[in-house]
Amino acid sequence: MLHVDDLPRIADRGLLGSFGRTTAERLAMQREVANADAPLVRGRILHLPLILPATPDACHEVLVTQARSFEKSPGLRVLLHDLAGQGLFTSEGELWRRQRKLMAPIFTPAALSRFAEAMQQTAERAADRMSPGQSIDLAHETTRIAMTVVGNALFGTDTFDEADALGAALTTALGWVNGALTSPTIVPHIFVLDLTRKLADHSPGPVRRALERIRGTFESPILVPGSRSKALRAAMAVVETRIHELIAERRRDGVEHHDLLSRLLHARDADEGGAMTDAQVRDEVVTLFVAGHETTATSLAWCFYLLSRHPEVRARVVAEADALGDGPITRFDPERLALTTRVFREALRLYPPVMMFPRRTLEPIELCGTALPARSLVFVSAWAQHRRADVWRDPDRFDPDRFLPEVEAARPKGSYLPFSAGPRFCIGMHFAMMEGPIVLATLLRRFHFELDDSREIVEDDFATLRPRGGVPAIVRAR
Ligand code: HEM
Repeated sequence: MLHVDDLPRIADRGLLGSFGRTTAERLAMQREVANADAPLVRGRILHLPLILPATPDACHEVLVTQARSFEKSPGLRVLLHDLAGQGLFTSEGELWRRQRKLMAPIFTPAALSRFAEAMQQTAERAADRMSPGQSIDLAHETTRIAMTVVGNALFGTDTFDEADALGAALTTALGWVNGALTSPTIVPHIFVLDLTRKLADHSPGPVRRALERIRGTFESPILVPGSRSKALRAAMAVVETRIHELIAERRRDGVEHHDLLSRLLHARDADEGGAMTDAQVRDEVVTLFVAGHETTATSLAWCFYLLSRHPEVRARVVAEADALGDGPITRFDPERLALTTRVFREALRLYPPVMMFPRRTLEPIELCGTALPARSLVFVSAWAQHRRADVWRDPDRFDPDRFLPEVEAARPKGSYLPFSAGPRFCIGMHFAMMEGPIVLATLLRRFHFELDDSREIVEDDFATLRPRGGVPAIVRAR
């Protein structure tokens, strides 16, 4: 059996190791993973070895077959602690299992179908605000639309975007998490967290309690005094007040609502019959709000960029949108938006909004013939899988027909991962796969968006893989 030290190494890129400090460095790291022949390669973050599964099989093992031997990397949990608390994205173990079971029925295609019309109406309202000749940033527009869509789905209100205090506060908090994600201080932070946990487990009563108190402070991010921390605290105060008001109002009013908040409040465990506490509902609401808009908005922005670079595909997508007629989309029919859906999926391949899934082993395991000790960092890269030349012919080329059913059927498991895979795959996948094509078709039916084709747009990886500098466009009448 191989050991971590036997694995092929990828390039070192300074203090943070192979991880890199900039988006370009992180993409270069993933390109190396995409080009690797071995199932696993080895990098480094600060002093820690970083295992990078390179082949689809290796990713499938981590995410699906051996999923029980992994937890999400604790760094993410710490950074999202104040915002998403113990919500579905960050929780682990029994709590996560219970919550996933409670929430799964809310996110089936059938349960979500009633949101199709609201998705279209939100995009129509955004188009109503546009006029020919106007300069817009499509990344900003799609963020507004996606925020309104998820706000509407959660709370049943139409006016929800970043102009709303809650939307603005969540945007500020997410911006803070973005900034902290690539900070090297998170590694020593996790080291202290683990160390205090380990010491507490082996210490007598009073020492244990003291260590647990210290550990408690390290469960959340350490805020360095300054304007960013002040802005974060102010934003979090707004989030707490507004979300608790929304939950309390809903509990009081007794009227039947059909939004996700009501469904969360009424969800019952089939075996134990238990409902969620208000604190848990708060964490889930914030999680869904954050996870549910930035990702979809980013993919939509990339779609517009890709379509502008490929006018022949754009013409076919516009024809598909026109064929829908003027009426409301009351039920999402993927057949009628087949090409638009393939474009959305191809954008998710080239620019996966969540490009890496950081994991840590819970116990010693064997992965693809290599012995990994407990607490090994294993980062699955969707980006690398999506750029493998042995899976995707000419992988950097935009080609929506890669997602024709017969082509797709021939691809190995673990090769297409925009929504991850296994037990922790994205619960909002059907929501996003409905929203993306509906919003794209609705906007393209109304306007032509003219981009400056001499300007290449590059990636910027914060929490999601955004187009750097947005997607500036001029609105043209059709
Ligand atoms: C194009 C849009 C989207 C993309 C690319 C995306 C991607 C992902 C990925 C990759 C994960 C797993 C991360 C990991 O395993 O480390 C995830 C999890 C999650 N996503 Fe999404 N997502 C999208 C839209 C949504 C939407 C619309 C919602 C909710 C309305 C949502 C809610 C969640 C939640 C709650 C989780 C955690 C699930 C769990 O751990 O059980 N996402 N998403």
